[in-house]
Amino acid sequence: MTTGAMDRRAFARIFAAGGSAALLAASPAGALSGRGGSLHGGRSLRTGGGDVDWEAVRAEFLMPPGVVVLNAANLCPSTRSVLGAVFDYTERMDSEPMPSFRAEMHAVKEPARDSLARLLGAAPGEILITRNTSESNNWVSAGLDLGPGDEVVIVSDNHPSNNRAWKIRAQRFGFSVRELPVRSPHPGMESLLDDFASAINGNTRLIAFTHLTNTAGDLFPAGGLCALARERGVMSLVDGAQSVGLLDADVKRMDPDFYTGSAHKWPCGPKEAGVLYVRSTVHDRFHASVISAYGGQRGLARTHEGLGQRDEPAIRAFGLQVEFLAEIGMDRIEARSRALGTAAWEGLARINGVRMWTSPDPDLRAAVVTFVPGDMDPAGVVASLETRGIVAAARTGADRPGVRFSPHFYNSFEDVERAVAAVAEILG
Ligand SMILES: Cc1ncc(COP(=O)(O)O)c(C=O)c1O
Repeated sequence: MTTGAMDRRAFARIFAAGGSAALLAASPAGALSGRGGSLHGGRSLRTGGGDVDWEAVRAEFLMPPGVVVLNAANLCPSTRSVLGAVFDYTERMDSEPMPSFRAEMHAVKEPARDSLARLLGAAPGEILITRNTSESNNWVSAGLDLGPGDEVVIVSDNHPSNNRAWKIRAQRFGFSVRELPVRSPHPGMESLLDDFASAINGNTRLIAFTHLTNTAGDLFPAGGLCALARERGVMSLVDGAQSVGLLDADVKRMDPDFYTGSAHKWPCGPKEAGVLYVRSTVHDRFHASVISAYGGQRGLARTHEGLGQRDEPAIRAFGLQVEFLAEIGMDRIEARSRALGTAAWEGLARINGVRMWTSPDPDLRAAVVTFVPGDMDPAGVVASLETRGIVAAARTGADRPGVRFSPHFYNSFEDVERAVAAVAEILG
């Protein structure tokens, strides 16, 4: 038996002990409440005193109590309501394939668009429902008229859906890309602003950066950078894969031209749904990348969201999940997740041999915490954590290798303490 197989079996035992594996095997739909997509089945998420009942929030997820999932930066579990909505509407599409139900399903994009617009502080006509951040970022790099003499400024720390896409399109269309090196540890907001201020020149057309990096968990001065870009007559693309659903971000405050995100990360929504905000003032400069039938009904979506047949149950579930976040309150979600991030940072930093890649300054980080586990192999540490029912991510390769913890609002402080204690035990 391989170590991997043993680990997976150990993990399955932990799942089974919590009862969820049996539930899932018996009937996915039966295990879900909130069927038909009602919000958390009408259960209250508040305590008698009006505070958020975080245990009730946690109970909306299928993960058994013994499992600690600290991997929001990669893939979040979705709520029962999301799973219920996806299952129910998919089942209905197949069991009731009537024109009237098809029409009802085609219409689900508009309430989802409204929910996303409220989440981001945008107008519904500025929201495109995509398949994920990769697609959203690519629609931007493919959709602007850029050519010889034009320049785009990127940061090495961006995701490939940003950097690799810009470089490949630059080769094809003849514009150039100026890449700012990673500054690690986080050099401070002013330094990052200075880096961009010096890089922008008369040829610059756009800057592309990541709101919260998936590598070291560095927070970028998003509002300051967008303001700088606007002052210099340059467009801005903010990759929000690690901030939508985590930070209380408002595009009217941040003021980017483009902001992107995925449902399956911090929003805890369905797979293969994403968002692209496009400021109304750049609509006339932004071309559609895919042209097909079934666009949206409002604003830019009429011309830029025609992707043919979509997974409409997932889009509907995304809208419902955004309402779930709104009911808790993005300000509360951000505060809790950042406090959990701080607890993780402080606990890990105390362990002998651990070296933190993530900034010690809570204002320069959020809930992505990356560290070097002494001289141990990060993948081995993550595998050992898995046998203890703790889900983390390994960063392998040459660029700041280590282990990444990304707690979210469904975690408790005990979860974080358990994960920190497990790292200490593995290293000790
Ligand atoms: C910063 C950043 N941008 C983009 C992506 C791509 O996200 P997706 O796989 O949802 O398209 C990721 C994925 O981890 C990311 O961390």
